[in-house]
Amino acid sequence: MRAKGSIDQLAVFGGQPTFAERLHVGRPNIGERERFLARVQDIFDRRWLSNHGPYLEQLEARVAALVGCRHAIGVANATLGLQLACRALELTGEVIVPAHTFVATAHALAWEGLQPVFCDVRKGTHHLDPSRVRELITPRTSAILGVHLWGLPCAIDELAGIARQHNLQLFFDAAHALACSYGGQMIGNFGALEVFSLHATKFVNSFEGGVICTNDDDLARRLRMLANFGYGETEFPECVGTNGKLNEISAAMGLTNLESLGEFVEVNRHHQRAYRAGLAGLPGIRLVEYPEGEDHNYQYVVLEIDSARAGLTRDELLKLLVAENVLARRYFFPGAHRLKPYRAADGSVPHLPETERLCESVLLLPTGTAVSGEDVARVTELIRFALGRGGEIRAHRAAARTASTV
Ligand SMILES: Cc1ncc(COP(=O)(O)O)c(C=O)c1O
Repeated sequence: MRAKGSIDQLAVFGGQPTFAERLHVGRPNIGERERFLARVQDIFDRRWLSNHGPYLEQLEARVAALVGCRHAIGVANATLGLQLACRALELTGEVIVPAHTFVATAHALAWEGLQPVFCDVRKGTHHLDPSRVRELITPRTSAILGVHLWGLPCAIDELAGIARQHNLQLFFDAAHALACSYGGQMIGNFGALEVFSLHATKFVNSFEGGVICTNDDDLARRLRMLANFGYGETEFPECVGTNGKLNEISAAMGLTNLESLGEFVEVNRHHQRAYRAGLAGLPGIRLVEYPEGEDHNYQYVVLEIDSARAGLTRDELLKLLVAENVLARRYFFPGAHRLKPYRAADGSVPHLPETERLCESVLLLPTGTAVSGEDVARVTELIRFALGRGGEIRAHRAAARTASTV
């Protein structure tokens, strides 16, 4: 498909979509297929399908080596990993958490009978605002759960200071942050523990899966016990536990994909740069930056769209892109605090102005190994085309609406 010459060639106005096939955010990366399939054969030959098998052991060793931490504990998914964390840390009452996150962060707390207390993010970042965190501490607060959204670390040192001062637990949802660093140290070493996701949409996946990292030996022992029905070293359970185990097929997939981690990061970094260059200079458009000097996985291309300056609102641009088969996403609209399970009975929501602003302006663009450099070039071209003709597009849409009502 050639570039658009005029706005009536846009797919929203009946033109041919730019892409014949849909482009996705988070389409899975898949490592060396033959190596994975050989491992599956091996699993069948060994007939060891779950219960801390050799592939899980290898996966855990590999993550521990990558992160440089004492313990990496493979679990069925990161949501369950966060739930296990709540139990192992013996949390009670309220836990302070950002609203600008995937709902699983809040669900893990609520599922464990804890109250998520939604906190705003700091202006200019997408992460917990430590000064707001301070204001939300009550006698019922037992912990702070930070989220390293987009793989960018939250204000770890400041949060650690607050946690120390108020005697609170601090732990992190690091679902996005495998292979990322903070101050030169890998994520996975901070707070009491950190939980990575290996879900299919994450840049390293094990179909479904997660890994909890900690440097605390006793905490690691408790986490393993809780994830294995409460069984520790003895014949009978020591406590109430659940089934949080990661099976061997998933572990083999995770291990295989970890072996391609460098290649995945390189593709993501390349796309990140291409998007940045392609969208440079567009008014009202900001691409979230990955600062030099730290390790990043670059797995998300995050746009902030200032509707007043960009010519189109985020949602207008989204509609236009989707029609062209570019399935950009509004992560994490409308914010966990506005979702049904967390709204107050009277419909009121906490005052989180920066979160609200991000929820109205953030748009994620397709990246990863399922997306080519040429795809990225076409998406940026499309965005430039649309934003440069915002007024015309709105007028065309209004005219079409009027015509359809006559
Ligand atoms: C920020 C965040 N936290 C937690 C999760 C839950 O991870 P999982 O799907 O492995 O349970 C996800 C994504 O799935 C996420 O994006």
